[in-house]
Amino acid sequence: MANTAELTVDGKSYSFPTLEGTEHEKAFDISNLRDQTGYVTLDRGYKNTGATKSAITFLDGEQGILQYRGYAIEDLAAKASFLEVAYLLIYGELPTKDQYSQFETSIRRHTLVNEDMRKIFDGFPVKAHPMGVLASLVSAMSAFYSDLEGAEGDKTDLHIIRLLAKLPTIATWSYKRSQGHPINYPKNSLDYIPNFLNMMFSLPVEDYKIDPVVVEALNVLLILHADHEQNCSTSTVRLVGSSQANIYSSISAGISALWGPLHGGANQEVIEMLEDIKADGGDVAKYVDMAKNAKTTGFRLFGFGHRVYKNFDPRAKIIKKAADDVLSKLGINDPVLEIAKGLEEAALHDDYFVSRKLYPNVDFYSGIIYRALGIPTNMFTVMFAIGRLPGWIAQWKEMREQKEPIGRPRQIYTGPTLREFVSLENR
Ligand code: CMC
Repeated sequence: MANTAELTVDGKSYSFPTLEGTEHEKAFDISNLRDQTGYVTLDRGYKNTGATKSAITFLDGEQGILQYRGYAIEDLAAKASFLEVAYLLIYGELPTKDQYSQFETSIRRHTLVNEDMRKIFDGFPVKAHPMGVLASLVSAMSAFYSDLEGAEGDKTDLHIIRLLAKLPTIATWSYKRSQGHPINYPKNSLDYIPNFLNMMFSLPVEDYKIDPVVVEALNVLLILHADHEQNCSTSTVRLVGSSQANIYSSISAGISALWGPLHGGANQEVIEMLEDIKADGGDVAKYVDMAKNAKTTGFRLFGFGHRVYKNFDPRAKIIKKAADDVLSKLGINDPVLEIAKGLEEAALHDDYFVSRKLYPNVDFYSGIIYRALGIPTNMFTVMFAIGRLPGWIAQWKEMREQKEPIGRPRQIYTGPTLREFVSLENR
């Protein structure tokens, strides 16, 4: 049933259409608000603002539901491969066997990165954070694959394949450099995740033995990170892309947005926080108290809270179980896992966290798994970026196909009103 919303302002009434998505979330369509009323809306942090219509990911923060293209995250994490999920997000349907084989083979064939990119890479300081390196090199790809004009149709598909194929290669370079080790080239006989692991960990002097437990754990983690509708980095990708910037520049901007500690960078912060708590004697209650006084201490519990989830983050549930499984299968006893569980337990029974609906998010336990797999702390957010890439691509592609207008928010100006210019000698 078509509804309208009535707004009365300055003694005049206006009506605006409402709309409803397929999962029944409701919106006021205020596209003509300013034209009709002369007013704009103010919504700092976009807490109530739908920036687009999207058919990619659905999440219900009150009920803790996450679905990609209508498939439950729990099913995908248990039954699919990361590249199947990538195809689903980007093209809208699960691939048939033929489609999958074509997609996977194309990705295998494009893993090699132009040797000239290495010269750029060699210019980075050895201790550069891998996220900065990753964002820069993805941006640099636009110079190497410059057949970008009107990047639509078949050409877009090629850029998509290149991004999916080369991101793991570039990601492992930054790690190798920080270790002072030679980089590894991709081995196209290997599948996507084993190829990444081999580039990360094999050495000229010693082959890396690929452990299926590690491959499976990474497969689940990458799927859980693959998309999350209009989050900060995805909105960045769409906003940059809305100016018709090319896909590499748009995704590079998304990587930079992801790096922040309130977003993907939280996974590194969580492990560093857990290590600090351990070094400080493991007094979980002390840190819960510090977080409760965030306004004076400036300390937040990283890995807790979410803009949309006001119930358990369904990804955190899967990851918590996976952390237990992986550590026991690999025979690792990591004391920070116990600290994490203690922290969660304490927070979930504390009124500050309960009343604000702050639950563990995707980043709370993921670092513990990455660490068990041998991935160093400063690479955690890079792992998130590899996982999120299909989502960014899908959202960029949808934004282009929907021919969305350039993104350009309004503001409420609060600066000085018009004043007279006084020349320098008179100031
Ligand atoms: N520890 C302590 N207090 C918190 C936390 C936290 N982690 N998160 C929120 N709060 C408090 C906050 O101080 C505020 O309290 P009050 O109402 O008294 O002022 C209230 O809860 C609401 O917080 P908010 O900052 O207004 O909420 P938001 O929706 O703007 O922020 C968030 C969401 C994820 C940025 C925030 O919860 C946070 O900073 N969490 C820690 C960082 C983190 O784990 N980020 C990863 C998010 S999930 C993956 C991803 O997006 O990449």
